[in-house]
Amino acid sequence: MDSLIIHGGTRLDGALRASGSKNAALPILAATLLTEESCALQRVPLLKDITTMMTLLSSLGATVLRNKEGAVVVESGPVQVCKAPYDLVKTMRASILVLGPLLARYGLAEVSFPGGCAIGSRPVDLHIRVLEAMGADVQVEEGYIVARAPDGLVGVDFTFDTVTVGGTENAVMAASLARGTSVLRNVAREPEIIDLVEFLRSMGAQIVGEGTDTLTVHGVAALQGATYSVMPDRIEAGTYLVAAAATRGRVRVEGIAPEILGVVCDKLRQTGACITEGEDWIALDMQGNRPRAVDVVTEPYPGFPTDMQAQFTALNTIAEGTSRVTETVFENRLMQAHEMKRMGAEILIDGDSAQITGRPSLQGAPVMASDLRASASLVIAGLVASGETRIDRIYHIDRGYENIEGNLQCLGADIRRIST
Ligand code: UD1
Repeated sequence: MDSLIIHGGTRLDGALRASGSKNAALPILAATLLTEESCALQRVPLLKDITTMMTLLSSLGATVLRNKEGAVVVESGPVQVCKAPYDLVKTMRASILVLGPLLARYGLAEVSFPGGCAIGSRPVDLHIRVLEAMGADVQVEEGYIVARAPDGLVGVDFTFDTVTVGGTENAVMAASLARGTSVLRNVAREPEIIDLVEFLRSMGAQIVGEGTDTLTVHGVAALQGATYSVMPDRIEAGTYLVAAAATRGRVRVEGIAPEILGVVCDKLRQTGACITEGEDWIALDMQGNRPRAVDVVTEPYPGFPTDMQAQFTALNTIAEGTSRVTETVFENRLMQAHEMKRMGAEILIDGDSAQITGRPSLQGAPVMASDLRASASLVIAGLVASGETRIDRIYHIDRGYENIEGNLQCLGADIRRIST
């Protein structure tokens, strides 16, 4: 099993290029099931979760390969299998994203019920409810969600009672091939939803309203193959910006439009960072200064992203002043705090909030990664700590960060991967 060894204390300094977005690529890969024609996807990141989704598509009978230019080409062809097996789903909850496309195209989908996970219970009731509203019969059979719509799905007027990214994605994919018009209300407005809609549109889907809280989808009889380039990863970019701020350094992230990180950049400015932006780059410079503590409350987009919460918690542990970080999107998503305390951080957990008193520095320690973003926050803590930090269970990081140690080495960090 791999670990990361970090010797902290170096100010990050340099430039890097944003990878393609994991959270956009996953639903877009699932959407290739909506057509039998070939789809070519550029800028799909090299990540464990992406490999899992590619394996899942193969297990459903699709031909999936990464060509020599790096594009992922998927041809789902005629259906062979409609079952997403437990062994794959248990390693990645986003496997649930094949539910809508399989059901819409084939009238049958069997997806292993995703269990609880490290960041709360994360139910999928809304994914199921919207598909039922479109006419599907959904049962849980031997641990599988079995959805049947032998006569096809029908358009629906549906209001989500919680904003859900994955639920919105499943609904919009299913509605694209349903008979008639669907109006989906209180949907997620994340940039990754916009990216999925743009991909679906390039396949011939008729959708309006992406980026607002209502999506209107006019179902079509069939979708065609498409070539598409996945948007950049705003969470990866944000993580490197926070890492640079925490180490009092500077970084320039290229290949990403600054608007999609607006709220994150605003928070970083509050820490004292000097941020400059171009059409497709963001640069941060702390000018050697210690960051100031900032309060954070997570919310669905365009609010502060839950996927950046742990990184700001790490920054606040060494910032000047006290701060409160409140998690409203997921339950039980402050677990990184316990490992950070082992590094000398002063954090008091109070329900869904962490009260943090900034310390001048942390001390390196052996720590354990618990989920993807918590792991990234431990890397940031290791970069600012004195001495050696060893992070175990880093398979969580490999799910969402492409070559994190290589990128940080390019920025001057003393970090390496070891296999034990
Ligand atoms: C996606 C992202 C994840 C991000 C999250 C919120 C992917 C692959 N993952 O996860 O990185 O942290 O959005 O921005 O894109 N909920 C229900 N019932 C449902 C579905 C969700 O109650 O049927 C609740 C969840 O428990 C959670 C909230 O809704 O409290 C938001 O979850 P959701 O937006 O669905 O997150 P994911 O799509 O799983």
